[in-house]
Amino acid sequence: MNGLRRYKRYADIPSDVRRQAQALSAKSPWRQQYHIEPKTGFLNDPNGLSYFNGQYHLCYQWSPLRYCEGEWYQGWFHLVSEDLVHWSPLGPLLEPETAYDSHGPYSGSAISVGDELLFFYTGNTRDACWQRTPYQLIARLDTQGRLTRQLPPALSGQPKGYTDHFRDPKIWRGDDAFYAVIGAQRESLEGACLLMRSDDAINWHIQGEIKTDFTPRGYMWECPDYFEQDGQGVLLFCPQGLSHDKTQRNLYEVYVLCGEPLSLHDLTFLHRKPQLLDNGFDMYATQTMKTPDGRRILIGWMGISEMHYPTEAYGHCGILTIPRELKVQDGILYQQPLKELQTLRGDYQQQFAQLDNEQPVIMHSGAAFEARIVISGKIDDRVTIALRANPSGTRKTMLTLDAVKGQIVLDRSEAGEAVNPEYGERRVTAWSFTSETTVHVFSDVSSLEIFINNGMFVSSSRIFPAEDQQWLVIENHGVSQKVEVECWQLQGIYHDGEK
Ligand code: FRU
Repeated sequence: MNGLRRYKRYADIPSDVRRQAQALSAKSPWRQQYHIEPKTGFLNDPNGLSYFNGQYHLCYQWSPLRYCEGEWYQGWFHLVSEDLVHWSPLGPLLEPETAYDSHGPYSGSAISVGDELLFFYTGNTRDACWQRTPYQLIARLDTQGRLTRQLPPALSGQPKGYTDHFRDPKIWRGDDAFYAVIGAQRESLEGACLLMRSDDAINWHIQGEIKTDFTPRGYMWECPDYFEQDGQGVLLFCPQGLSHDKTQRNLYEVYVLCGEPLSLHDLTFLHRKPQLLDNGFDMYATQTMKTPDGRRILIGWMGISEMHYPTEAYGHCGILTIPRELKVQDGILYQQPLKELQTLRGDYQQQFAQLDNEQPVIMHSGAAFEARIVISGKIDDRVTIALRANPSGTRKTMLTLDAVKGQIVLDRSEAGEAVNPEYGERRVTAWSFTSETTVHVFSDVSSLEIFINNGMFVSSSRIFPAEDQQWLVIENHGVSQKVEVECWQLQGIYHDGEK
C-alpha cells in the first residue's frame, strides 16, 4: 500500500497525462503576465530563495497533477534569474526520491556555502498506516547544476515535547555559526518556533523554543523566518488555528513580530505588538533573503491552504507575489515593490486632475499594469478607486480610502468570478490619513497587489475578472483633491517567452 501511494517523480508521470494537463491550463483565461505560476497543477510556498553562482534561485512547492485523477506528485520547481524579475524555469529540483522524502520534499530554504548552494528542507514521509515522520534534510547543488543529497538526515523525527508537525527550516548565516528557525507544534497542540544551530550547515542541533509573547498561539506555526533589518529583529510566521471571525479575516495569515534582535543565548525575543503582514485576501508562507547588495527581499504565496480558486477548473492554481523590499521603521515592517520591477514597464500614461465631487478620473489601464496614484491633499471624507472595472462600472475591485471611518476597505464582491465568498468579500484595515496618500498598484490578469504610503499598508489578492475589466476610476467625496495618476503596462517575465 505504501509503495502504491508513494509519490512519483515528475519524469515517471506518463507524457500524455502531462500533455493533457498542459492543454487544459493553456485554455485558462486567468494565466498571469508577470507573476510566477506553474504551467499546470498547484503551487504553494516559495522555497530556497537565495543567491548563488551569480544568479538568484527560487523554487516553489509544486503539485503538477493535483487536478488529474489518480496521479500524485509533490516537489520543488526551480527557477533562476539575474535580477529577481526575469526568470528562466529550470524544472523540478527536489523530488520524492529517498525514504526520507517519499511523500514530498516539503518547504525549506537555501544558502550559498563555499562553492555550493545548500538546501535545508523537510522530507515528508508516511508509513503504511499514514503516520507521518518528518526529516530535516540537506541537499547540495554544485556550480554545474548537479544535486546531491546529504544523508543520513540532519534530523530524524521531532524533538521531545513536539508532534510530527515539525517542518520548514529557514537557514541563515550568523556571526558565529549557521542558524535556522523551524515551525513546530507542541504536544499540547500549540504552535511554536524552534531555533537550530550548526557550525558547518550540515550537522544541526536544536537550541530550543523561541520565547515570544504571542498568544493565543494557535495549533501550529508554519514557515517561520527570522532576520535582522534596520537594527531590529523580525520574526515572520504563519500560525494556524487562531479563532478570529473567518468572514472578516483570512483563515490563515502571516504575522510579523518586530523587536530587539533575538537573544541567541536564552532565545528570548522581546517584541512589539504583532502585526499582520498583509491586509488582502491571499497571502501565506513568505520567504525572505538578503541580496548581495544588502537588501532584504520577500516573496510570498498569493494563496491560502483550503481556499479554492476558479483556475482550478483549468487545472492550475497558485501564484507567487512580486518580490518586495523590506524596511523596518519605528517598529513597523514596510514592503515596497522591488525597484528592478521597473524593467517590466512598457507603455506609459499620466493624468493630473483636480478631483472634485462631480468629475472622476478615468483611465484605460488594461489588465497587467502598474499604477501610482498620488492624492496630495488630506482626504477629509472618502476617495474610491475602482480597479479592473468594466466599462459600465458594474464589475470592479473597490478600494475605499475612508477618512471618516478611519479605514481602508478592499471589496472584491464585484471583482469577477467569486473567490471563497463564504470567507467574506471585504477586508477592512484601520487607518489614519495624513497629508498625502500614495497608492501603488500592481495588477496582473488575475491578481492585485496594493502598496499604500511606501508599503506601510500592503494587500495581496487574487481576482478573476472578465476580459472587459480594464478601467481605473477614481472618485472623490469631500474637499477637492489634487491627484496624479501614472500607469505603465507591464511585460512578461519568462526568458523563453512561455506563460
Ligand atoms: C505551508 C505548508 C508547509 C509545508 C508545505 C507543504 O503552506 O503546509 O508547512 O512544508 O506547505 O507543501
